[in-house]
Amino acid sequence: MAVEREWVFGTRGLHRLLVLLFFCPHVYTEPITLGIAVATAAVLTGYLSYPRFHCYWSECCEPERPLNQTALQADLRQKFFGQHLAQEVVYRAVLGFMSNKNPKKPLALSLHGWTGTGKNFASKIIADNIYELGFNSKFVHLFVATHHFPHDSKVHQYKDQLHMWIRGNVTQCPRNLFIFDEMDKMHPGLIDAIKPFLDYYDNIDGVSYRNSIFIFLSNAGGDLITRKVLEFWTAGKQREELQLKDLESVISLGIFNNQKSGFWHSSLIDKNLIDFFVPFLPLEYKHVKQCVIAEMQHRGNPVDMELVDKVTREMTYYPKEEKLFSDKGCKTVSAKLDFYL
Ligand SMILES: *[C@@H]1O[C@H](CO)[C@@H](O)[C@H](O)[C@H]1NC(C)=O
Ligand SMILES: *[C@@H]1O[C@H](CO)[C@@H](O)[C@H](O)[C@H]1NC(C)=O
Repeated sequence: MAVEREWVFGTRGLHRLLVLLFFCPHVYTEPITLGIAVATAAVLTGYLSYPRFHCYWSECCEPERPLNQTALQADLRQKFFGQHLAQEVVYRAVLGFMSNKNPKKPLALSLHGWTGTGKNFASKIIADNIYELGFNSKFVHLFVATHHFPHDSKVHQYKDQLHMWIRGNVTQCPRNLFIFDEMDKMHPGLIDAIKPFLDYYDNIDGVSYRNSIFIFLSNAGGDLITRKVLEFWTAGKQREELQLKDLESVISLGIFNNQKSGFWHSSLIDKNLIDFFVPFLPLEYKHVKQCVIAEMQHRGNPVDMELVDKVTREMTYYPKEEKLFSDKGCKTVSAKLDFYL
């Protein structure tokens, strides 16, 4: 970024301005003409030396912007605790999709797990790695079920609206990111309105959706995931031995048959239009501890291990006997730290 600015306002622009002034001495006899000349030279220089000059004022659509593989991997590894499956699946899925010049369909990821396990965080990492402005990009759209689609009686209206929004945005730029939060609170059936966009079509009425990304976030399936992790623990196996295949079908079947999952009898699942079901495992004591330490470092505070232990112990853990998993994941860590710092 700094380098590009240098191009526009830096040496070359200055050079052209000097040439102009040298050959047209009359312009500096009059301040207004001089002003206009300077402005014109600056803008012209900008456009000539850097065609994306206007992208400074208004974000440009950049469907070809390459993904920095190293940065994505580092983000997923360093900012995420206890999620070996999500780390790997999100990395492979996003990298594969972004490196494919001609995808057959848009990428659809469904993230599942209890609150505080990092689902929102994962979508933020994806947005940050695809768009320069990250979550603030005008090509990133977050739909929260209870906020955008609160009334069951208006589901037809919501369907039309959603259709229009997605179509409108993708018409303007092929690379959009649509995130649907609280899928489990979404009216069953609403999500089927976007099925055509997720399917294997070249284009629909001249618009191609194949370069966009759809992410669904949901607590549904969290109980199934917990059960599986607990099973592993009881059998004396390492959590890291859990593989995607142990969970993927459990989740997809579970949410398809669950009326409160947002995917109840959804054709998205029926027709295999979700590319990856990404499980977020419940967090254990040691992961919460890592979250607390990371949060302290993020705030620039020295890491006080006594306080770390204190905050970590204050979280509540379930199931009743085993007390293995934090029931809010890392969600309230930040608020608890506010209280002590
Ligand atoms: C990719 O990201 C890494 C780590 O953040 C950084 O060191 C590297 O310079 C980046 N590469 C490009 C081409 O931007
Ligand atoms: C793009 O999506 C947003 C919602 O995120 C909506 O408000 C806007 O109207 C859409 N733009 C177009 C051109 O449809």
